Amino acid sequence: MDNRSVRRGRTGAARHLLLAAALLACSSQLLLVDANSWWSLGLMPIQRPEMYIIGAQPLCSQLSGLSQGQRKLCQLYQDHMTYIGDGAKTGIKECQYQFRQRRWNCSTVDNTSVFGRVMHIGSRETAFTYAISAAGVVNAISRACREGELSTCGCSRAARPRDLPRDWLWGGCGDNVHYGYRFAREFVDAREREKNYPRGSPEHARTLMNLHNNEAGRQAVYNLANVACKCHGVSGSCSLKTCWLQLADFRRVGEFLKEKYASAAAMRIGRKGKLELEDKRFNTPTAEDLVYIDPSPDYCLRNETTGSLGTQGRLCNKTSEGMDGCELMCCGRGYDQFKTYKHERCHCKFHWCCYVKCKRCTSLVDQFVCK
Ligand SMILES: *[C@@H]1O[C@H](CO)[C@@H](O)[C@H](O)[C@H]1NC(C)=O
Ligand SMILES: *[C@@H]1O[C@H](CO)[C@@H](O)[C@H](O)[C@H]1NC(C)=O
Ligand SMILES: *[C@@H]1O[C@H](CO)[C@@H](O)[C@H](O)[C@H]1NC(C)=O
Ligand SMILES: *[C@@H]1O[C@H](CO)[C@@H](O)[C@H](O)[C@H]1NC(C)=O
Repeated sequence: MDNRSVRRGRTGAARHLLLAAALLACSSQLLLVDANSWWSLGLMPIQRPEMYIIGAQPLCSQLSGLSQGQRKLCQLYQDHMTYIGDGAKTGIKECQYQFRQRRWNCSTVDNTSVFGRVMHIGSRETAFTYAISAAGVVNAISRACREGELSTCGCSRAARPRDLPRDWLWGGCGDNVHYGYRFAREFVDAREREKNYPRGSPEHARTLMNLHNNEAGRQAVYNLANVACKCHGVSGSCSLKTCWLQLADFRRVGEFLKEKYASAAAMRIGRKGKLELEDKRFNTPTAEDLVYIDPSPDYCLRNETTGSLGTQGRLCNKTSEGMDGCELMCCGRGYDQFKTYKHERCHCKFHWCCYVKCKRCTSLVDQFVCK
């Protein structure tokens, strides 16, 4: 994410104009888009606001997947949209990484409905998806503030931590997680808050579930952000340090939320119209925990109704006893064995000075694919 500003120079302008033209041409198609979610922002390139000024289509009406309130926020904060898109993309990528060895692998179905119908089920997997994408937005916006990319925020103004040694300086330009958190709360939750389902209905339960998991995702980024410092002083003596607030690596956020996924709490809608524990013997989930209201499908077979893609054709590990093992991954259907060539760097030698030279080795390995 750090070299974003470098990559996105003005050279991209021509491409964006073409894109605007292309979008205009297929605007009738855009209407067919499943209004499912702002997640779709993660799958399409978003024009920079200056293109809007040049006179392309108004950005916000072009973007699919926004709810009414989100569209309003888009109009007020146009320069944020690219980063929301980046955040969604980061979230989706991390989800796919964390679930790469599981039956449900967080794959996106197409550019429009993003994760497909399987998100209609209020399962643990859905909970994780909401949390990680909300987290992605906090992450992207907080960093964009720090990089001076947004007009309404700048460096973090977080107070100096009390336990910071007295002679260390506080005040490098930090990631603005406070702003990122608040903006993501407005934007991501907007679509849930607009809904007006009867209290206690299944749809209301699902709305509460989404809101809870969105918040858990945001808090993960907020709480994992930490102090980073840099040394100053005579030839690396580090007698002086400057410190600031810094986002955790997003992988860390992914791992944290994956743990929350594993310990997610089963909930149901209670008589007072609030989510309550399905089994009262467990601890009440905190704002950092994930919650779900429906059991997960087994994700074994392709099912158009539930949107499950099934595991046919998935790679599995013959010797593993975990979820990536052929037994579990293939749901007992068995697997086919293939031989395939694997290329890798090998026989690496260090040369004075200073580079490493490797050979490319090819070996024949077995691969196992679910029937
Ligand atoms: C999805 O997006 C990619 C790249 O943005 C594009 O090449 C592809 O044609 C799109 N697919 C659909 C179904 O719109
Ligand atoms: C798909 O899932 C639904 C809901 O669980 C189930 O009722 C239906 O039988 C399944 N269809 C197939 C073809 O497996
Ligand atoms: C995820 O699973 C689907 C369906 O089994 C498969 O088509 C897709 O290639 C998988 N994605 C990855 C990254 O393994
Ligand atoms: C398969 O699983 C075993 C046991 O968990 C592990 O040691 C091995 O590295 C895995 N193989 C691959 C190709 O991932």
